[in-house]
Amino acid sequence: MKDTVEPYVTEDGRTIGGVLMELKHITLKFGGVVAIKDISFDIREGEIRAIIGPNGAGKSSMLNVISGFYTPTEGEVWFEGKKRPQMRPYKVAQQGIARTFQNIALFSGMSTLDNIMTGRITHMSAGLFSQAAWWGKAEREETANREAVEKIIDFLEIQHIRKTPVGRLPYGLQKRVELGRALAAEPRLLLLDEPMAGMNVEEKEDMSRFILDVNDEFGTTIVLIEHDMGVVMDLSDRVVVMDYGKKIGDGPPEEVRANPDVIEAYLGVSHD
Ligand SMILES: Nc1ncnc2c1ncn2[C@@H]1O[C@H](COP(=O)(O)OP(=O)(O)OP(=O)(O)O)[C@@H](O)[C@H]1O
Ligand SMILES: [Mg+2]
Repeated sequence: MKDTVEPYVTEDGRTIGGVLMELKHITLKFGGVVAIKDISFDIREGEIRAIIGPNGAGKSSMLNVISGFYTPTEGEVWFEGKKRPQMRPYKVAQQGIARTFQNIALFSGMSTLDNIMTGRITHMSAGLFSQAAWWGKAEREETANREAVEKIIDFLEIQHIRKTPVGRLPYGLQKRVELGRALAAEPRLLLLDEPMAGMNVEEKEDMSRFILDVNDEFGTTIVLIEHDMGVVMDLSDRVVVMDYGKKIGDGPPEEVRANPDVIEAYLGVSHD
């Protein structure tokens, strides 16, 4: 791990680029509840950045700030070297940021294919009128979108469920479809809120492999909220640790695991 903003290669040969996003002194309040208290950290191009912490620590809130779903009460979000103005979430999505949710948010009556297709929305041009006016263009766009979706279906090994309504799929596969929908946007920055929660060991292994492959093959930068420390250790380059809205640790996994504040937050061990 380096403090410099220059790209570097990790011990296991992974290339980490410059700073892609910087969160500066973020505070987020809901009425009297302070969900995030003055937190700063950066996200570097090509890395897998984990956010961990006990329940209610503010992890999902932080992801919602990154995705533009929440506007921080104080602080600034810098993306690609520029301060991000207050922006609606769909505008943020158009900048190449996609996400999955802690609770699955798919259209349960729609097929796997159609659900993933909804992820292409940022790649579709202005709606029905332009489609009616430009038949040829709309057709080309439709073909390109279909091809992109087919590639994702192959990549995630879900050909066998392409026509199945997602509400009928087991939980682990629904999570995989949701990842597919996020990938359909071809994001530069992918935000995953507990992609492995509620999964069995085998499903977790599959999901871990897909996350690593996305990062490897497409160079996608990933921010991952995860409770399973084994998974965090295996996947992440750097970890931010939150507790009661504060940042209590930030660094490579082995370093934060040895951090006494982190141990205390997880185990409730006191130092006296
Ligand atoms: N929309 C909201 N309105 C009011 N309070 C909220 C809202 N969203 C989150 N909070 C509060 O902010 C704090 C942080 O919640 P958040 O969901 O970000 O935690 P988390 O770390 O993701 O927890 P978990 O591990 O349980 O998912 C909690 O006290 C929560 O009750
Ligand atoms: Mg959460």
